[in-house]
Amino acid sequence: MNDIYILGIETSCDETSAAVVRNGREILSHIISSQVRTHQKYGGVVPEIASREHSLHFEPVVQTALKEAKLGFDELDGIAVTYGPGLVGSLLVGVAGAKAMAYAARVPLLGINHLEGHVYANFLEAKLKFPLLALLVSGGHTNLILFQGHGDFKVLGRTRDDAAGEALDKVARALGLGYPGGPQIQQAAAGGNPRAFEFPRAMLEPQSLDFSFSGMKSAVLNTLNSARMKGVTLEISELAASFQQAVVDVLVRKTLMALAQMPVKTVVLAGGVAANALLRQTLKEELDKREVRLVYPKPLLCTDNGAMIAAAGYYRYLRQDFAPWTLNAVPGLSLA
Ligand code: KG4
Ligand code: ZN
Repeated sequence: MNDIYILGIETSCDETSAAVVRNGREILSHIISSQVRTHQKYGGVVPEIASREHSLHFEPVVQTALKEAKLGFDELDGIAVTYGPGLVGSLLVGVAGAKAMAYAARVPLLGINHLEGHVYANFLEAKLKFPLLALLVSGGHTNLILFQGHGDFKVLGRTRDDAAGEALDKVARALGLGYPGGPQIQQAAAGGNPRAFEFPRAMLEPQSLDFSFSGMKSAVLNTLNSARMKGVTLEISELAASFQQAVVDVLVRKTLMALAQMPVKTVVLAGGVAANALLRQTLKEELDKREVRLVYPKPLLCTDNGAMIAAAGYYRYLRQDFAPWTLNAVPGLSLA
């Protein structure tokens, strides 16, 4: 079979990224232009600024990705782009750009759900066999998803309020740590006692695979406020370590509950929070005991990137599941 070259484009939030991936596995080039510094001074992503930054960086990022892969437009087999969920203005830059390029190059356009893309980062890491249980933990989503095959998945659980990453970001902000909060919490937690504060672990109804992080987040904010009112100073490292432990405990317990309900032998981690060292280590220890394989992407492939979009695009290309030229950005796109 001929080699298949897919250009993947990601602009759903604050990363402008393009990558060329061969046969869904091999990254030939990968460019990520991050806007984190720009948004840091506002404590979070400012949508209007994000769209403008994507417009500025889109073309150079794509050109560099093609140049580093030593490929011309005409040598691509398809162009994959995130069309949702995400910030509408940001998504539109990628979708409009990808459509224009695919039309000009006369290659298929592949529309990718950003959440599905995160899971496909694992196919860049390892050879995987279905069925797979995916724990997707990002800034906007927290899902347990059962994958029976490519494009064949079922959402088993989702967050009913804040996403795991969102809760980490909000607690980090309250603790005076910077944005994005997840990595800051991880850093601040180093050396802190994770049992210093017993924050609640929201498990919901006995068999539920849904999540809820908003009450856990509020517990930290309440602890901080009452200490402030009493003039007591709390140790940031202990608050960070205790909250990180609470979030990880819930994520791991729910994943084990899902596994107990189905005969799945591989778990994949995906999304920005999948970069968290405590989550990786704790889940690995628990899955080893159960002889279940754990796969996670390298940290760079956990957060938003074009390579995961190209990987998801490859399998869509094989199924000839091409997007129409009318493809539009869908900011609230869900998995099912
Ligand atoms: O997947 P992602 O890059 O963007 C979305 O699609 O949302 O995820 C971003 C989220 C942020 O909430 C960030 O704080 C979190 O991932 N994150 C982490 C770590 N690195 C990024 N959370 C915990 N530990 C980390 N090392
Ligand atoms: Zn993401």
